[in-house]
Amino acid sequence: MLGRALSAARSPGWSRIPSRARAALAQLHSVLEAELQQIHGAGTWKGERNLHKSLEAKIAKFHQREDAILYASCFDANAGIFEVLLTSEDAILSDELNHASIIDGVRLCKANKYRYKHLDLGDLEAKLKEAQKHRMRLIVTDGVFSMDGDVAPLKEICDLSDKYNALVFIDECHATGFIGPNGRGTDELLGVMDRVHIINSTLGKALGGAAGGYTTGPKALVALLRQRSRPYLFSNSLPPPVVNCASKALDLLMDNNTIAESMTSKTKRFRSQMMAAGFTIGGMDHPICPVMLGDARLASSMAEDMLKQGIYVIGFSFPVVPKDKARIRVQISAAHSDEDIDQCVKAFVEVGRKHGVIS
Ligand SMILES: Cc1ncc(COP(=O)(O)O)c(C=O)c1O
Repeated sequence: MLGRALSAARSPGWSRIPSRARAALAQLHSVLEAELQQIHGAGTWKGERNLHKSLEAKIAKFHQREDAILYASCFDANAGIFEVLLTSEDAILSDELNHASIIDGVRLCKANKYRYKHLDLGDLEAKLKEAQKHRMRLIVTDGVFSMDGDVAPLKEICDLSDKYNALVFIDECHATGFIGPNGRGTDELLGVMDRVHIINSTLGKALGGAAGGYTTGPKALVALLRQRSRPYLFSNSLPPPVVNCASKALDLLMDNNTIAESMTSKTKRFRSQMMAAGFTIGGMDHPICPVMLGDARLASSMAEDMLKQGIYVIGFSFPVVPKDKARIRVQISAAHSDEDIDQCVKAFVEVGRKHGVIS
C-alpha cells in the first residue's frame, strides 16, 4: 500500500496538480519515505519496523542475553515457544502453579510432560531423573508466582539443571523491571543471570503497562522463533506507541536503579506496617502483597469497603486461588508515594477492624 501511494506521488501527472495540493502530497511523500525506511525485512508483512528491532535489541541488552523477539503479549510468547523448541523426543518439567499461558503453551507442545509440585526441589529432581530417557529437558517456572508473590528457587533449579543436563526457562512477568538490585528480574535477584537460558516476559505490567510480550535468550532460538512461532508469524506487530512506551521504560530502568530500589523500600513499608497491624501477608518481599483472609465473601466485601475509602484493591477467591485461600491482592507500584502507602494501611486497619479480621 505504501509503495502504491509513493509511486502515485511520483507519477507524470504531478505537474498538473495545483501547487498547494502538490505541497501536501510532497509532505505525504516524505512521511511515506520515512515509513518505508522504518519497515524491516523479516517482519514486513506484519508491520514490523526498525523501532521494533531497536526495542528487541534493548530488551536483550537489559536482560544481558543475545537476542529478543517481540509478541503481542506474553501469553502469545508462552503459547509460541514450547512447540517450536521441543518435540516428542523431549521433556518439559513444569511447576504445577505456573501461569495459565504456560500451561496452554505446554499443551500445544508434543514433548513429554512432567508436572512437579510447587517449588518442590525434591520432586523436581525425581522428575528430572525420570526424564533422563528423553533427548532434551526443559525446566519451566514462573520467576515470581503472581497469586502469592513467592519466588522460584532459581539457584537450586539451575544446580539441578546442571546435574541433569536440562535447560531453564523462566516467566518473568511479575519480576521484570522491579525485582533485583537493578530491576532485571528474579535471575538478577538470585545471582543466576548467566545460568537461566530463556526468559519470557511482558511489556504489559512494569514496562509501560499497555500490552506486548517477548522471548529473550540465545540468538539461534530467537531466529528459530521468527521462522516457526505461530503467534509471532500469524499476528500483527505491536502498535508503535506501545513500542515507544516500553522503550522509554527500559531507558529509565537502565539509566539508574532508583526505581528498582524505591520498589524495595515501598514494599517493605507496606508489608511491615500491615503485619504490625495484625494482618497476614503472603509470599516473600514482593510488591505483590496478598492480604490473606481465607473466606471469599469476606475478601470481596472488604475490597468493596476499601474502595469506599478510596483504595482500589481486588478480592481473589476460588477458582483463581485455591478454596479457603481468598485474599485481597495489593500491588505496590513505583508511582505510589510513601503517603499513599500509609493511607492504604490506615484504610486496611479501619476496614479490617470493622470485619473483625484484626482487633
Ligand atoms: C506469569 C504470567 N505470565 C504471562 C502472563 C501474560 O502476560 P500478557 O498480559 O502480556 O499476555 C501473565 C499475565 O498476567 C502472567 O501473570
